Amino acid sequence: MEASTEFSLRPLMDGFGVEMRDVDLATCGPDVHRAVVETFDRHGVMVIRDQRLSPHDQMRFTNAFGTPEENPRREYTLPDIPEIYVISNKIVDGRKIGDHQAGQGWHTDSSFLAEPVKCTMLYAMEVPDEGSDTLLADLCAAWNALPPERQAELDGLQVQHSWRALMELKKVYLAPDDNTIPDVVHPMVRAHPADGRKALWVSTGTTRGIVGMPNPQGLDLLDELVAFATQDRFVYRHKWHVGDVLIWDNRCTLHTGTPFDLSKYKRHVHRTWVRGDRPN
Ligand SMILES: [Fe+2]
Repeated sequence: MEASTEFSLRPLMDGFGVEMRDVDLATCGPDVHRAVVETFDRHGVMVIRDQRLSPHDQMRFTNAFGTPEENPRREYTLPDIPEIYVISNKIVDGRKIGDHQAGQGWHTDSSFLAEPVKCTMLYAMEVPDEGSDTLLADLCAAWNALPPERQAELDGLQVQHSWRALMELKKVYLAPDDNTIPDVVHPMVRAHPADGRKALWVSTGTTRGIVGMPNPQGLDLLDELVAFATQDRFVYRHKWHVGDVLIWDNRCTLHTGTPFDLSKYKRHVHRTWVRGDRPN
């Protein structure tokens, strides 16, 4: 496709992630957006530098990946665009305008849903001089690094994910009969729909255990596998610059935010999500 020649690509790590330059997401046409999505599907993580996106520009680009997902926490979405969630520690007119510290701890977004979000996009307008790095772990590389006999033991296992478990972790009180989002079961090993590559799809925060395995054995195994998959050799550390667009594929990566000095620095980011399918 001719459009794919309009931008330049550089790997972020050997076999994981890609940085794209020489593209202006605000002004390019749908053919370029499509070529970006095709590239993204093969790399797990994509960084696009030096962008200037209005909220509507970001929505147009997000739409190229699929159907944008609204965020249930309306207090921090843009008033006229509920699909854009504001991550920010800025105070405007005496009011918090965003979630000041989203997403700490290794996880994959909304894994407690029957159909977790496919990908997550962050667009940075203000970033701290230090801290707030986003870490991304390559779950395909982690799977490929396991010996075949270990892969055979794990393939086919099912993990119980729970929104209630996450709320308990965040110390959010729920009534005992609150079943707003029922627990779901997802495969531990997930095949990517673009090319069938397998990912060791483990997580923390939402997991209750492994189906058919008593605890603490099940939770211990999940902790062991997350620790394995998040070794430095599988992790890309994104250091933020103003104008960065970072997109990760929740079907084959884990991510975590890292802290920064909230009293010293401002961070202001717009996040969008794209609806996903049932993992298989
Ligand atoms: Fe997240």
